Amino acid sequence: MDRIDGTNNKTLYDFANPEIDTLLKHSVRTQLESLLKTSISVEQRLVVLQQSFVEAMTLALSEITAPHTQLVKTFENMYDQAVLSMAVAGLSQEQLTHQYISATGLIMSPYNCKHTIKDIYRIKGYARGLDKAIQGKLKNKSSINVLYPACGPFAPLLLPLLSYYKETQTFKPSQIQVTLVDIQPGAILTLKQLVSDLQLEEYISLIEEADATVFEPENTIDLLVLEAMQHGFTKEGQLSIAKHLVKYLSIDGWMIPQNVSVKGMMVVGETEFNQQWKTQEFSHSSNVANEAQQDRVELGEILKINKSTLLEMHELELEGGIKVIPANQIVLPKGVEDMSKRIFAVYAHIETFAQEEVGQYDSGITHPRPDNSVYIDLKPKDIEHTHFVASSGDTIQFYYQLTGLPGFVPVKVQESI
Ligand SMILES: C[S@@+](CC[C@H](N)C(=O)[O-])C[C@H]1O[C@@H](n2cnc3c(N)ncnc32)[C@H](O)[C@@H]1O
Repeated sequence: MDRIDGTNNKTLYDFANPEIDTLLKHSVRTQLESLLKTSISVEQRLVVLQQSFVEAMTLALSEITAPHTQLVKTFENMYDQAVLSMAVAGLSQEQLTHQYISATGLIMSPYNCKHTIKDIYRIKGYARGLDKAIQGKLKNKSSINVLYPACGPFAPLLLPLLSYYKETQTFKPSQIQVTLVDIQPGAILTLKQLVSDLQLEEYISLIEEADATVFEPENTIDLLVLEAMQHGFTKEGQLSIAKHLVKYLSIDGWMIPQNVSVKGMMVVGETEFNQQWKTQEFSHSSNVANEAQQDRVELGEILKINKSTLLEMHELELEGGIKVIPANQIVLPKGVEDMSKRIFAVYAHIETFAQEEVGQYDSGITHPRPDNSVYIDLKPKDIEHTHFVASSGDTIQFYYQLTGLPGFVPVKVQESI
């Protein structure tokens, strides 16, 4: 079963049922430990918090790439300070740990979401793109509305950037007005505390507890910032949220990310996921091994998500009310000798804005995801209904299911001739 985060060994379903594990005890301990650290005065804590956010953004926006170790230290520091604000917000255990599956995807608990603020290269790719988009918009407009749905307890793609703008006096609150939306009450409580601690209230027009797949913004939106996905473009409701909210973008409004390209490939698991990383200190697109990359059998793009594809997407409703979106067709290549030994994997490439990106392996969300239910040129001994079996040369149509567990469904449309 998939691991949700690397810091413990809990599975998706353990977290969905917090009463069956020790998470509750753990979360209380974490809160207490956090509070114990606050032997400094409130004023001192706020200064350190604000500095940590500005320092992380200064490194992220710099044209000189900081060493990985420096980035880790700086982002860890920002995380530590943000967790103190979360502890001060005083969430109940339920508010902190409640995690469930909604009709459109996994709703992670604030406890599990807190780690995304130290996902360095994801935040860097988004912040750099957003910074360019904000600069671009403010060239022609005196003020812009930014909507950030499913922002989590720390809204990490925007609050550090706003802290940087405030400190460096780059943009004033009269120029940028942000709406933050999350469905988790615990995320909302934390956000309110953090925005107040960072003294960013003047930039924030609304913090709303709502389901982003039905939320209706009052104003037209200039920038829609969204990151609600997991690797392989599965589990979370990115597509349902984007599809609903793209309608509220102004005609010349932009989505951040500007483009997400989801691709399929057949890989030798040992080469792709083990050998390639053996000598690397950390996974990043700049550290991939040429040999492993050349060993891949790329199948091409299976879904492209941007403003225009979202506006054109048509849902199909199947029996039982299940909604799917038709994605692309691919033809499985012929003549790959070891096809039956390969596994199917899906990965996303995220262009946040203007050449800024989150590449493969830069973050958990762009890490290729092996799908062991797909068999090419090989038949499993016991075929289950979840297995997909096809042969080289077959034409495959992909669909994307918009259910509580969103993800791709391959369907064979034509056998190899
Ligand atoms: C991984 S966390 C935070 C992700 C955040 N965007 C970031 O950049 O770090 C996911 C958050 O999305 C929220 N979320 C997921 N689906 C949602 C929905 N349909 N409406 C509102 N919030 C949602 C969850 O409550 C959770 O706080």
